[in-house]
This record gives sequence, C-alpha cells and structure tokens, in this order.
Amino acid sequence: MERVLFVRYANIYIFRTTQNLLFKSKTNLKHCLCSLPVYKVFENVAHHYDTMNDAMSLGIHRLWKDALLHAMHPQPGAQLLDVAGGTGDIAFRFLEYVRSQRERQRRRAVRAVQTPSWRDISSSYSSEEDGEEAGPRESGAVVCDINKEMLKVGKRRADSAGVTAGLSWVAGDAEELPFDDDQFDIYTVAFGIRNVTHIDQALKEALRVLKPGGRFMCLEFSKVTNPVLARLYDAYSFNVIPALGEVIAADWKSYQYLVESIRKFPDQEEFKFMIEDAGFFCVKYYNLTGGVVALHSGFKL
Ligand SMILES: C[S@@+](CC[C@H](N)C(=O)[O-])C[C@H]1O[C@@H](n2cnc3c(N)ncnc32)[C@H](O)[C@@H]1O
Repeated sequence: MERVLFVRYANIYIFRTTQNLLFKSKTNLKHCLCSLPVYKVFENVAHHYDTMNDAMSLGIHRLWKDALLHAMHPQPGAQLLDVAGGTGDIAFRFLEYVRSQRERQRRRAVRAVQTPSWRDISSSYSSEEDGEEAGPRESGAVVCDINKEMLKVGKRRADSAGVTAGLSWVAGDAEELPFDDDQFDIYTVAFGIRNVTHIDQALKEALRVLKPGGRFMCLEFSKVTNPVLARLYDAYSFNVIPALGEVIAADWKSYQYLVESIRKFPDQEEFKFMIEDAGFFCVKYYNLTGGVVALHSGFKL
C-alpha cells in the first residue's frame, strides 16, 4: 500500500507519497504559473533535460558546475538553497563536495590522533567528560524550482543514485521564495535567473533568505568577449541547438526559446550592478569559456 509522508520545512509543506512528490506551499503557485510560456518550456524539456544539456554543451556544463563548487568550497554543516535547481545537478555536487571535505577532515583527525600531544590527549578526555558531540551538524541542500516536472525528474535521479540524506525538493518561485528570512549559508542559481520575469525581485528574495555572511552565487550564460569566438558561438547556438532539440526531444521551439533568452540576458557588468543594487557586497564575476558563461558572486553582510 502506498504510504503518505508529510513534512513541514520552514513555511512550506511537502506531501510525499512513496511513489510521488506532491507539493503544497503558502506561496501561491497559481501566481507562479503566470510566466506560463517558461513553465511550459521546462515542462516540455524536463524528461530530456539532462541528455540535452550534455548534447548542447558537449558536456562542458559539467565543468562549469564543477567550477561553481570549486569557487564555493563549502564546508561540512553548510546549508544550501539551489533556486531554479531543476533536476538537482548543483545540489548533488554540493552534497558530494561536502562529503569529501568531511572525509578529508576525518582522515586528518585520525592522523593527528596517531601522534597526539599531551594537550590533545587531555582535551580529548575533557571533551568526552563534557559529553561534547564530535563533528559539525549535517549539511543540507534544498532544490527549489517552479516546475514540478523538473523536480520529479531530479527526485527520480536522486533515488536511483541513492542520494537522499540532506536533500529536499521544493516547488517555489524565485520571486517569492517559500522560506523564512536568514535561513541559508549559500544561495545558488545556475542557468535559471534569465528565465525569471523580475530578476531584481528574485535577487531581493535571495538576499532575504540568506543568513548574514551568506553567499549568493550565480552561473549564467553571458557575453562572449572574443569576437571570433562570439561569431562561432552564435552560429552554433542558433543553428545547432534547436536542431538538436528537434532530434533528441522532438521540440525545436523550446530550444529556440532557450537560445533567445540567453541573448536577452544582461552582460557581466550590468548583472554585477543589478546584484549590487539588490544589496549584496563584494560582488565579483569570473568568465568561464571566454564569457560563454559567467560566475557572479556576492555576500550578504
Ligand atoms: C535551464 S534550467 C536550469 C536547471 C539547473 N539549475 C541546471 O543548472 O541544470 C532552468 C530552470 O529554471 C526554472 N525556473 C524558471 N523560472 C523560475 C522561477 N521563477 N522560479 C524558480 N525556478 C524557475 C525552470 O523550471 C528550470 O528548471
């Protein structure tokens, strides 16, 4: 018989059956769905999304996402919110990165125990007596996306890879996040913010849900700086990507939309100003692959 699980997370409610994920949130999802064309695009592409990502970028999106994690360098205990998180690529990488950091720290601690000083020995006795817990609290990653189809595909991927601990899937709009203030250490949005109708509102929401000291990080397609590369990139995007969409997903239009939305997005400098205007500090960006993608980062102080 199918069991129904009920989880409350911040101010949203997640109803989970053993087969499906159903969401109910205080955020009015009807309002979220007003940007319907975008919703429809991702509903259409959800089942081919991961295959298409590899095909369109020749696998390079994996390197861009790895670069994001490398720059983030999260430590055990960190709480991540990945907005427009789709099928969970960033969250999976985050949990894996934190796990390997924890393992590295554990190995270091074991090495230190093998050659302890008198001070280490005495402090280990006193912490045992005080009943101190070893290690920091567990890290967690929340994948938030407006599109339930994308989340379902991600959840299925997580289940088949056995990645469930510390991972939650939440339906929500980047412009009206269903989370309380000051909840997360890191907010990421990868290839998602250009789809949001009011980018300034999404940035304000990012600031609101981050803890003071928390970090905003955004991966997005940007402006190619080299004119020769720019011409090649244009030819590839407008001719090859919709054609790949047609062959793999029988959907030219959705992929045409994706390419056009990239061209409409502000360039590196303009987006940096927008992040600063939203209230973030120490805003910087790094170009990846000659500016095909930019990684923006800023802090809530
Ligand atoms: C190109 S996909 C990126 C998915 C994932 N971050 C990745 O890098 O593979 C863009 C995602 O943005 C989501 N999205 C679009 N508008 C949104 C909004 N207003 N709020 C939350 N998610 C949104 C879409 O549903 C889609 O899953």
